[in-house]
Amino acid sequence: MLRKITSIDFQSNNSSQCVLIRVDFNVPVENDVVSDDYRILKSLPTIQYCLDQGAKIVLMSHRGRPKGKADSDLSLMPAGEKLAQLLEMPIKFSHDCISEDAIDVSRNLKSGEIHLLENLRFHDGETSNDPLFSSKLAQHGSIYLNDAFGTAHREHASNAGITNCFTTKGMGLLMEKEMQFLSDGVSNVEGPVSLIIGGAKIDTKINVIKHFFNIADNILIGGAMANTFLTANKYNMGKSLVQKDEIDTAKKLMLMASKSKTNIILPVDFNGELNKFGSGKLHYASSDKIKKTMICEDIGELSINLFTDIIKKSKTVFWNGTVGVAENKDFAIGTNKIIDVIVDHNCTSIVGGGDTIAAIRNYKKGIIEEFSHASTGGGSCLELLSGNKLPAIEMLKK
Ligand code: 3PG
Repeated sequence: MLRKITSIDFQSNNSSQCVLIRVDFNVPVENDVVSDDYRILKSLPTIQYCLDQGAKIVLMSHRGRPKGKADSDLSLMPAGEKLAQLLEMPIKFSHDCISEDAIDVSRNLKSGEIHLLENLRFHDGETSNDPLFSSKLAQHGSIYLNDAFGTAHREHASNAGITNCFTTKGMGLLMEKEMQFLSDGVSNVEGPVSLIIGGAKIDTKINVIKHFFNIADNILIGGAMANTFLTANKYNMGKSLVQKDEIDTAKKLMLMASKSKTNIILPVDFNGELNKFGSGKLHYASSDKIKKTMICEDIGELSINLFTDIIKKSKTVFWNGTVGVAENKDFAIGTNKIIDVIVDHNCTSIVGGGDTIAAIRNYKKGIIEEFSHASTGGGSCLELLSGNKLPAIEMLKK
């Protein structure tokens, strides 16, 4: 059974317990400063809840893929500084997550103090799920919480093996919300249901599309992925990105859709550039009149109307992947219109994927909070939307 944080007692015999929390502080850093604090912000409710319970708190996370070696460019120090700033309190920091010194700092914490450990992946034992490494980490606390949804598709020492070292363990508030919307929520939602799928590559999204046949009424496909589907339908996509080796997959998916209750909707027009990406020669064309030199980079106005009309008729919308190259404002128009319509229409809206979350956050300050749920996960979000289980969650249930 998955235990919720609210069922855990953080005091024992009148003394505060030390809670070891696996968070996902895998955040981008530029010039030693966190440049996107979304994941840190989303970990605050769990941390604040534990502080309110008078617990002592030890936080652990990975950052990047340092392959078992210390790498100062992948330190968690900037994440600690950001956290201290957000909570307006000092955070203790240890440079090695399993050193005697680090374990001593945790043992000597007082109620309401926080100790952040250096990047777990500076040790090989993390990714190899080494039981010895798990047992060393477990010395930091007497209660274990997993709030690192973004990492839950990995079977590592700090989120899988470590669960064997604790009798009192459960999920944090972020993990609970992610599971509620992305796992329990998917098969049990109010229709009509629409799935918007974008981004560049089909291969990472095939299983999501398959899982949503017969769950979604409509699957709206945008981004460069749509080019591959349109090519499969014999459209000429000019110089646009097309995954030639996935054209057959696109055909099969459209055949499967035709045998299900689900419609696949493709863009009917595009904005883009001529000659080469970044040329600045903006160009518009309908799907059947794409010039040989055109690169499609956003859905056009007719497609925006097609997509937004469907969204307005939906009670539940899932969204993963931008419908254009949203980091360029000329090609963020489709994505931004979809954001506005979802928010104005006030349906249940579940959005995931790093690029999509970044596009929403860059569009209008605070608008992300208008979505019913905005996931912190990339791979883990896709796994759940594909109907798969997450190893870290399965371990936490044992
Ligand atoms: C992520 O950013 O998707 C998670 O933090 C997992 O990181 P990983 O792909 O390096 O395991």
